[in-house]
Amino acid sequence: MTAKETKDSKKTKKHEKKPEKHKEKHKELKGPKEHKELKGHKDHQEHKEHKKPKEIKEAKKAPNKPKKPHIDAVMVKYERHPQHLIALLQDVQAAFSYISPENLNLICDYLGVPVTQAWSIATFYKSFSLEPRGEHEIKVCLGTTCHLKGGERLVECCERDLGVPRGRTTEDQKFTLETVNCLGSCALAPVVMIDQDYLGGANIRTLKKRLEKK
Ligand code: FES
Repeated sequence: MTAKETKDSKKTKKHEKKPEKHKEKHKELKGPKEHKELKGHKDHQEHKEHKKPKEIKEAKKAPNKPKKPHIDAVMVKYERHPQHLIALLQDVQAAFSYISPENLNLICDYLGVPVTQAWSIATFYKSFSLEPRGEHEIKVCLGTTCHLKGGERLVECCERDLGVPRGRTTEDQKFTLETVNCLGSCALAPVVMIDQDYLGGANIRTLKKRLEKK
């Protein structure tokens, strides 16, 4: 083989290796400098579309919370008649998780009922709340059977751990703690209801464990 042929052969080998090397290099590209080098490469567009870490962080920070409707959007479903008072109160309670004094006044104006009437209904039924409710509702049963089986200790445990007295909502609006007279499951006493789930035969350990999951 002549010297020229040897030189040409080396050149060809070098050329053959190039695509592999090139590929590897682009795999590792991360920083702005390397980003510049990618320009013109077919993967450039894809690389450009990658979300920056800051954007990803911000997207994580803002979870898609369902938007609350405006009170008008709730009221407009009903005719302006006092007979719809309870139904409208229920809808407002469900939409906002409580009935604020402002909303109560708006409902009364809309239906043409005295505020005192709406107020007495809202305070009479336990399903209505005039204070903001927590994301999770804890109902500790203090009916006779549950009381005898340690219901009171369970309420005290919640009060201590959540830092709120019974009947109130935590500052972060996560939990509302309540006591009830009977949850209708006396055979499972003591019973605690967290949202829609019953915790039968509850004790401090199982209660804490359940709350930690929330
Ligand atoms: S007394 Fe607690 S469920 Fe009946």
